Amino acid sequence: MTRLLIIGGLAAELGQAARIAAARGARIGQVDGPAAALVQLRSEGADLVLCDLAHDIAWLMERLAAERIACPVIACGRNADAAAAVRAIQAGAREFLPLPPDAELIAAMLQAVSGEAEGPVHRDPMMGTLLARAEALARAEASILITGESGTGKEVLARYLHAHSRRARGPFVALNCAALPETLLESELFGHEKGAFSGAVAARKGKFEQADGGTLLLDEIGEMDPRLQAKLLRVIQEREVDRLGGTAPVKVDVRLLAATNRDLGAEVRAGRFREDLYFRLNVVALHIPPLRERPGDIGALAAHFARRFAEANGLPVRPLAPAAEAALLAHPWPGNVRELENTLHRAVLLAEGGWIGPEAIELTPLPPAAPGAAPPPASTAAAAAPAAPGGVAGLVGRRMEEVERDLILETLTHCLGNRTRAAEILGISIRTLRNKLHEYRAQGAPVPVAPGAGLPPGLPLVLPAGAGR
Ligand SMILES: Nc1ncnc2c1ncn2[C@@H]1O[C@H](COP(=O)(O)OP(=O)(O)OP(=O)(O)O)[C@@H](O)[C@H]1O
Ligand SMILES: [Mg+2]
Repeated sequence: MTRLLIIGGLAAELGQAARIAAARGARIGQVDGPAAALVQLRSEGADLVLCDLAHDIAWLMERLAAERIACPVIACGRNADAAAAVRAIQAGAREFLPLPPDAELIAAMLQAVSGEAEGPVHRDPMMGTLLARAEALARAEASILITGESGTGKEVLARYLHAHSRRARGPFVALNCAALPETLLESELFGHEKGAFSGAVAARKGKFEQADGGTLLLDEIGEMDPRLQAKLLRVIQEREVDRLGGTAPVKVDVRLLAATNRDLGAEVRAGRFREDLYFRLNVVALHIPPLRERPGDIGALAAHFARRFAEANGLPVRPLAPAAEAALLAHPWPGNVRELENTLHRAVLLAEGGWIGPEAIELTPLPPAAPGAAPPPASTAAAAAPAAPGGVAGLVGRRMEEVERDLILETLTHCLGNRTRAAEILGISIRTLRNKLHEYRAQGAPVPVAPGAGLPPGLPLVLPAGAGR
């Protein structure tokens, strides 16, 4: 169930928005201003915030960033407030919702944050079998380990499991274990008391407490530091968490799902992942095959994304031309469903005429290592080094650091900014990649980011007429 927090009075149009959202199944919380919202977000969290333009949204966004509370904020107001809407978007608000609220728009926003409301789109028999198994397993309380390459839909499957479980009316909370440094991850998971460490300006519930009565997805579990693995194991065994700086443990009732694109069994054998934790999490496993192994899904997913992005952008829904579909079927999709989604987003915006033709399908070029993908090297010096397409001879005279930086940034660009995938291809940990990118950014290098990184994609961009983003 989506938890919506409304900042502002419910007497007028915002109240109308709240009623529409509640009718669509959202659980509504309300506070009078950004300061109260911050308190609420620290303790309970929320999936989406609607904030009246009358409030200081820039201040709220700043605080959220400082305390690393990730929650999309939607600014609402009357169309006449175009300048204020633009300011809110510039401050980091996700979208602008014009008042009086439109029921369809609110439905679209709720759907975007709760993932695919209708469940995973699928047509390939392999996926049908997997989902049937998932539905049967959903009703049990056992932990499930979801594996698959990045972008295959692990989080989508986790939400599907939650939606079909006995906890469906409880919260679904997801945490990406690779996105935060170890110390912050610890307080994200278990919460902390005020003053537990410098910067802990107020007490905060961890994800375990936020997910009480519901489901907690630990994404990229393979990236978790061994010390935290031990703490996690304790929480699972004792069914209680100790907040950092806290004095008494807090009981929690949470169903755990974990996801990874690594071979966790191999990580256990290599001594990087605790065996006892592995067996706790991996009571049952669900493996999502890469998109190239379930070609039957490509057409169904493409049609689904074509419709969704057309609707989100106020464009007519158009079918895919047969030549466009053929191009999609021939591509190996190293970035899986996420890459297909991005490709269709571009295609919907680029297509002209009554359908989406092959000219609108811009496929991500494959990494040069893939057979046949690299153009023949131009210089004779490069041609003398057949082992590496492009030629390492051309690199002689350059500093190692520089070459490494170019390789990392170029790979990240290939992966449309998807760090998980880039780290996988580069054969380094996400943590290492993150540290390097941090360094490069500090040096002033442009670092590519995934479109809508960390936030639900496909939310309609609604701006008042004449306002630019
Ligand atoms: N079967 C599906 N139906 C509809 N959308 C899907 C499906 N599978 C994946 N998607 C979409 O593709 C994108 C990637 O999915 P998701 O985030 O679940 O993948 P992931 O395996 O968790 O990726 P990562 O390893 O990078 O975290 C999301 O935008 C999701 O909505
Ligand atoms: Mg994921």
